[in-house]
Amino acid sequence: MTIRVNLAESSYDIQIENNAIDRCGNLFDKYNKVFIVTDSGVPKEYSERVAKSANGKAVVFVMKRGEENKNFVTLMNICNDMLTNGLTRKDCVCAVGGGVVGDITAFAASIYMRGIDFYNFPTTLLSMVDSSSGGKTGIDFGNVKNVIGTFYQPKKVIIDPSVLKTLSERQVRCGLAEALKMAATFDSKLFDFMSKGSFTDGEMQHIIERSVELKKSIVEKDVKEKSIRKSLNFGHTIGHGIEVAGKESRYHGECVAIGMVAMSSSDSSALFTR
Ligand code: GLY
Repeated sequence: MTIRVNLAESSYDIQIENNAIDRCGNLFDKYNKVFIVTDSGVPKEYSERVAKSANGKAVVFVMKRGEENKNFVTLMNICNDMLTNGLTRKDCVCAVGGGVVGDITAFAASIYMRGIDFYNFPTTLLSMVDSSSGGKTGIDFGNVKNVIGTFYQPKKVIIDPSVLKTLSERQVRCGLAEALKMAATFDSKLFDFMSKGSFTDGEMQHIIERSVELKKSIVEKDVKEKSIRKSLNFGHTIGHGIEVAGKESRYHGECVAIGMVAMSSSDSSALFTR
């Protein structure tokens, strides 16, 4: 399935297809170099498969895993490696990983030489259903999440649901929390569907596809988050607070889930007094 995000000259496709990461070679034909950013928690196999599609043009940068590394130091290291490898606007940058890799890589792509083509290959459920599309980029700074960043749309998002087979149960639950956020805010049918709690691969693919469709329609209406896109922050204000206070001991999706429960409860104080 391919979903088109219509944003005038910044329009792009989101491809959702098993084994898509092995079939992306044609994307890279027009570039001289393909700079791939991944992290130490992502199975190496995935960046290697994307690199193989790039036919000898790929350079791979591996950052340290974790939200605590979504910072200026890592950004500087990425930009430094891009410069050392002689990247120009005739080249492209790819993120292969979850939300942290996607956010910081897209940010680097948006500022390097005032913008270089960017492709996102999300490998976590959370980044598939939400963060890989829509063009939010950024890093954390001064204990505030995503406070430095840009809006910069990818040239394409390639979602390969088959890579989820290596994702931990905990990470899958985090992704389901973000999908549930989409359902709770915009699609009661998806919410009812998700209420059953456990899913086959086919059902998981349906959740991804429907979440991406919802995200697309919201981003098309309000790309710069002036109105309706703010709904996608449901649960995030409290969630980000918990995430920062806990020094990232809880994952993003877990904090968002707690934030959504708190916002939905008539007596949210009960959540915080135990
Ligand atoms: N993750 C929320 C948004 O892209 O607006």
